[in-house]
Amino acid sequence: MVETMSQNILLTGGAGYIGSHTVLQLLLSGYKIVVIDNLDNSSAVAIKRVQELAGRHAHNLEFQQMDLRDKPALESLFSSKKFSAVIHFGGLKAVGESVQKPLKYYNNNLIGTITLLEVMAAHGCKKLVFSSSATVYGWPKEVPCTEESPLSAANPYGRTKLFTEDICRDLHQSDSEWKIILLRYFNPVGAHPSGYIGEDPRGIPNNLMPFVQQVAVGRRPALTVFGNDYLTKDGTGVRDYIHVVDLADGHVAALKKLADPSIGCEVYNLGTGKGTSVLEMVAAFEKVSGKKIPLKMAGRRPGDAETVYAATAKAERELNWKAKYGIEEMCRDQWNWASRNPYGYEGSPQKSACFLPCLPRNQVQGCLAQN
Ligand code: UD1
Repeated sequence: MVETMSQNILLTGGAGYIGSHTVLQLLLSGYKIVVIDNLDNSSAVAIKRVQELAGRHAHNLEFQQMDLRDKPALESLFSSKKFSAVIHFGGLKAVGESVQKPLKYYNNNLIGTITLLEVMAAHGCKKLVFSSSATVYGWPKEVPCTEESPLSAANPYGRTKLFTEDICRDLHQSDSEWKIILLRYFNPVGAHPSGYIGEDPRGIPNNLMPFVQQVAVGRRPALTVFGNDYLTKDGTGVRDYIHVVDLADGHVAALKKLADPSIGCEVYNLGTGKGTSVLEMVAAFEKVSGKKIPLKMAGRRPGDAETVYAATAKAERELNWKAKYGIEEMCRDQWNWASRNPYGYEGSPQKSACFLPCLPRNQVQGCLAQN
């Protein structure tokens, strides 16, 4: 704790879904955090709510609206503060949009990352945790996916993840002072147990659980199930869903690992190691929410894999981290967030009335005590 207290950590994209949950876990672990985010696909309200949830640690959080490609702004931030490490979440992530607008994805995700790495190098900050994705395993020939499994990308979004992993490996190769951890996330779902922060996608959700949650609150009539003819237990796609708080804790573990002098450029899967089908996920959500989710069966979504789940041994062994939450807890917390914030962060106060003063004090403390 004494060591972490003195550390300034920069989080890019810290107002987003995974970023905001990670900011909270880091604050509660005693780190000082600066978040930069261009708010293109996230809300400043998330930062305010993290601050409220952080209680006595709130003063350790600073936020600046900034685009990573704005090099002078980044330069001036690094000149004004010394950072021990950077956790780099900032980027675009909609697969379909990346196919329509590849240049937007390459510009944002690659130029943003390169600019960040250049400024870090110039200021002698050479410790990085990068948000990669299980998307780099493509349609795996074998599951579970280990960190050594073959890599491929089916779309520009996935390619930005692969390219960035390669850029990081090259950087470490060129200068061994760089210590880099690439975290391959499986499918993050759920929300902080308080129900104050969660996922709030703009427009029509691409991913399963945000869509399910919008059906549950009446914003959409039915969930379209993409494919029921896969060679899986019930014909629907199988994924490794991981509670976002577990994922956030994985970042705290990765930061600690960066202090290990033997670390170079390392990659870790963050998943649970368990595969769950679309229908199993829907059933679990219906059970905890008491809401019926009407289903419409449709054809497979192009680019989707049949079964993807993680080998977790490397993260368990080397990061000393293991996911604790199961599917029911993921769905419970997803529903808690959705029912309190049916229209997300920017919903009208009548429709979306979740602010800390409404939450009984013991409930807030209960939520924090779990972490
Ligand atoms: C998707 C992305 C992946 C990205 C990840 C981020 C694609 C092809 N892949 O992964 O690159 O890293 O999100 O979390 O978009 N499903 C439905 N109906 C829906 C939505 C999803 O049936 O409305 C099914 C999918 O077919 C899949 C499962 O639910 O079997 C999970 O889908 P999703 O949440 O989109 O995640 P991935 O496809 O694993």
